[in-house]
Amino acid sequence: MSHAVTLIPGDGIGPEITAATRKVLEATGLQFDWDEQVAGMAAVDRTGDPLPDATVDSLRRTRLALKGPLTTPVGTGFRSVNVALRKEFQLYANVRPTRSIQGAGRFSDVDLVLVRENIEGLYVGVEHFVQVGDDPRAVAESMAIVTRQGCERIIRYAFEYAERNRRKKVTVIHKANILKMVSGLFLETGRKVAAEFEGRIAFNDLIIDNAAMQMVLRPEQFDVMVTTNMFGDILSDLAAGLIGGLGLAPGGNIGAGAAVFEAVHGSAPDIAGKGVANPAALMLAGAMMLDHLDEVAAGDRVRGAIAGTIEQDRVRTRDLGGTATTKEFADAVVRRIA
Ligand code: NAI
Ligand code: MG
Repeated sequence: MSHAVTLIPGDGIGPEITAATRKVLEATGLQFDWDEQVAGMAAVDRTGDPLPDATVDSLRRTRLALKGPLTTPVGTGFRSVNVALRKEFQLYANVRPTRSIQGAGRFSDVDLVLVRENIEGLYVGVEHFVQVGDDPRAVAESMAIVTRQGCERIIRYAFEYAERNRRKKVTVIHKANILKMVSGLFLETGRKVAAEFEGRIAFNDLIIDNAAMQMVLRPEQFDVMVTTNMFGDILSDLAAGLIGGLGLAPGGNIGAGAAVFEAVHGSAPDIAGKGVANPAALMLAGAMMLDHLDEVAAGDRVRGAIAGTIEQDRVRTRDLGGTATTKEFADAVVRRIA
């Protein structure tokens, strides 16, 4: 059987790390039917539209994409493609596993998964200025929109993810002490969903600021964490920092209608075209995609090969203090899989 996947190489280092990732995924022996499509600046150059209909149609058909980073043009009217995809396909769950790789980062025992609500909250972008006297921008107001249904589906996703992946605990992160409604609803829903999983998945809750400190002091205490959009945005980058940064941080955007897997980092224009980018984050996103396809054994092989390449073979790209090129790293990972 062949897995149909929309492949979006993306901008900057995107094509280099996508080629490397494709090679590694194919080395597992699985068959892929790649439908290559453009988005971002590559699409603007070719079609004038950062998210062409053909790309959306492809994703509608495959319901699965592996995506390189996209450069968001600054100063023009183009919408953010990432946000457009999230809305179009209701990709409500942003899932970021963070696991230590020895030789990278400050901690050796981090193994947590952060589940971030991807559509609601403060990032709905409902904001305006209020005029006071002759100052039209004297006050800025922004609305955080949180629905019971949105809370329930993300928290349920986190618990089901925990169960499916044999994890033990879900921590709900909030600020319900101050934001009694917007964050209170999230915590209230967390307690209700947790009760359904009692005896199978442990549950606790932490206030966001304390959670940030705890992550830096003792990250090993965390298993699955679930939180609202903006808190998740910040904590997921914090989590990436614990294990050595962007070169090792994968993410999945998952919804009822489709799933898009990508690296957390951007298009890295400063090193684009030089062949030195670390493809590990996108490869790890590829492994998440394999899990999503129920090819968990293959996903584990990819993760194991990446860790072995960095830890034992000491083949590392520049961002991890090594000298390997993108291609050398990919070839080393392929050797371990084969
Ligand atoms: P960036 O993540 O592209 O780069 C930040 C720093 O990390 C740079 O020094 C870069 O060289 C380095 N870096 C990133 N990925 C790396 C890798 N795989 N290997 C080695 N070094 C790596 O963030 P920046 O510069 O803020 O954004 C550049 C562009 O990417 C912008 O247009 C931004 O909008 C876009 N972006 C797109 C994302 C997406 O499509 N999901 C996510 C984040 C940014
Ligand atoms: Mg972010």
